[in-house]
Order: sequence, then C-alpha cells, then structure tokens
Amino acid sequence: MTKATFDRHRRLRSSAQIRSSIRENHVRVEDLIYPIFVKEGENIKNEVASMPGVYQWSLDRLEEELQEVVRRGISSIILFGVPKEKDDVGSSAYSDEGIVQQGIRFVKERYPNLTVIADTCLCQFTDHGHCGVVHDGEILNDQSLELLTKTAVSQAQAGADIIAPSNMMDGFVAAIRKGLDEAGFVHTPIMSYAVKYASAFYGPFRDAAHSSPKSGDRKTYQMDPANRREAFREAASDVEEGADYLIVKPALSYLDIIRDVREREDLPIVAYNVSGEYSMIKAAAQNGWVNEEAIVMEKMVSMKRAGADLILTYFAKDVADYLQQGENGGTSDE
Ligand code: PBG
Repeated sequence: MTKATFDRHRRLRSSAQIRSSIRENHVRVEDLIYPIFVKEGENIKNEVASMPGVYQWSLDRLEEELQEVVRRGISSIILFGVPKEKDDVGSSAYSDEGIVQQGIRFVKERYPNLTVIADTCLCQFTDHGHCGVVHDGEILNDQSLELLTKTAVSQAQAGADIIAPSNMMDGFVAAIRKGLDEAGFVHTPIMSYAVKYASAFYGPFRDAAHSSPKSGDRKTYQMDPANRREAFREAASDVEEGADYLIVKPALSYLDIIRDVREREDLPIVAYNVSGEYSMIKAAAQNGWVNEEAIVMEKMVSMKRAGADLILTYFAKDVADYLQQGENGGTSDE
C-alpha cells in the first residue's frame, strides 16, 4: 500500500459533531466579567455615544441592568464610577459615600452572590484626569500609592469581593495588599492590571467615564505598545508583590502578550477586551459589514486560545445569550 503523500486534515472537519468533539478551546459563561458604569445622580440611563448598548446608570435605575446580568448567569461584574465632584486628589474615589462605594453596597445588598469587582484608580475622580497625584506636571508615584490604598480599603469596606487596581503606579500591588491586610481584608483578592499598555483603544471608555487626562497623556505610567519583554517584568513584579490575578489590557491587539504571560506565570489571567475593541465591532456590525455574533465569538475564543482564563468584556451579556442559544459549546459554527 502506498503511503498518502499528504495529510487529510479535512477528515476531522467533516461534520459539526466531529468539529465540536475535537474543539480545543471553549468560552463559558463563568469566564465572563461584565463592566458597569455607575453615575452619581438620579434617573440616569445614558447610552454612551461611542459604545452602543453600554450605559451609565444611576443607582435608582441600576436594578434593570443587574437583572439582565443575573438572568443570564453572569457571575461577576466590575464597577466603574462616574462622580459628580472631582478635585485634584480624587477625594470621591476613597470617600465612603463615593459612587463606587455606594454602588458596591447597592449590588451586594440585593445580589450577595454576584461577585463585585472594584476598579481602583483615581482618573475618573481627579479634575486633571490622571491616575495619580500630579505636581508640576509630574505624576507622583509614591504619594499616589497612599490614596490608591485608601481607595482599595474603602471599596473592600463597602463589600467589594475583588480589588482591581488599574492605575499603573509602581508598587501598587504591594501597597494595596498591605493596606487590605492591615484593615483585616486578608481574604480579598487583588486582580491586578499588571500589563496595561498606553492604548488608543481606551478612547470610548474615557467618553463613558469622563476620565481623559486634561493635559499630557498616560505614557509615563502605562506601557509602550511596542514592548514585549517589559510585560514580563511588569507581570513578575505583580506576582512578587502578591497579586492574585493578572490582567492583560487591551486584549485583541495583545494576544501574543497574553500567551507570553500565560507561559511564564501561573496565576489566572484576565483578558480585558477594552472599549475601543467593542466599539469597532459594534460600528462594523451596525453597518452590516460583519456578522456580529460570529465575530464576537471568534474574538472570545481567540482570547481563550491565547491563554486567558477570564474575559472582561462589554459583550458579556451578548456572549451569554449566544452561549445559551448556541449548540456548539460557545464557538459559532456556521
Ligand atoms: C482607569 C481605566 C481605564 C480603563 C479601565 N480602567 C482607562 C484608562 O486607563 O485610560 C479602560 C477600559 C476600556 O477601554 O474599556 N485607569
């Protein structure tokens, strides 16, 4: 018998059943983290212009959104605050009556089983829009750590299940871990934005959260998109300092970095599928240029394939629906 001179890869693609049986990666509803913008004020349900389907919510309207999340079996949300008052040291980020602290209490009272993650940063709360304290145009590192730690502790006191610091100051994980431990929150995990690039893909988020820097940019603290080795150092520092999860952000232009971090570190990895990545797909889908469901599920499984355990995405509710309707374990098979 003569040996085939080429491989028959198509044998294992010949039916939906076979394809499904050998599928290597899956997206599960348990993987999803849904971001919610809570805004100080009353009777607010504002759609973010650059993010169709994403809203700012005041607490008196938030129940509607929470029901949509819980009904789909999504188990985790991350809260971003949009405060009324801003000042140069971001006081409303660490006030017990801050919008995030109120939001956490609101959600935990009604849905104790929903995991509430608090984004820990100052940029939405400072009048200059930077993630730390600014002096003479410089973003001060160590002085910012103190305020970020206060923010994290007040979020834990309000009932946050997980603290997610996104500020990119050096040493923030160590400082926050120490602060949480001293305040008695030894069991509260830190989901660190360990590898966060200075990305244009955050544009729509800054519309939603009113958090653009008034002057300058974030390039002295967020990473240069051209750098790969630097991501290993950032991830290693956060592991060393006591992080419990590592976030890589953005996700889709940085799948290589997710893979790299996966191979070097053993902590759970979270892919942050950021606002600009959401808006681009939405815009194309609204024009009828792409099939939204198919594109979204392909993107989701690509983050899992790259090595992510969890996916933080504005598409979480849609993905949960697709998973429920789909027959293909989470990957669209048209
Ligand atoms: C706050 C923060 C940002 C995002 C999450 N937390 C904005 C930024 O760093 O400018 C971006 C999220 C997104 O684009 O979806 N530091």
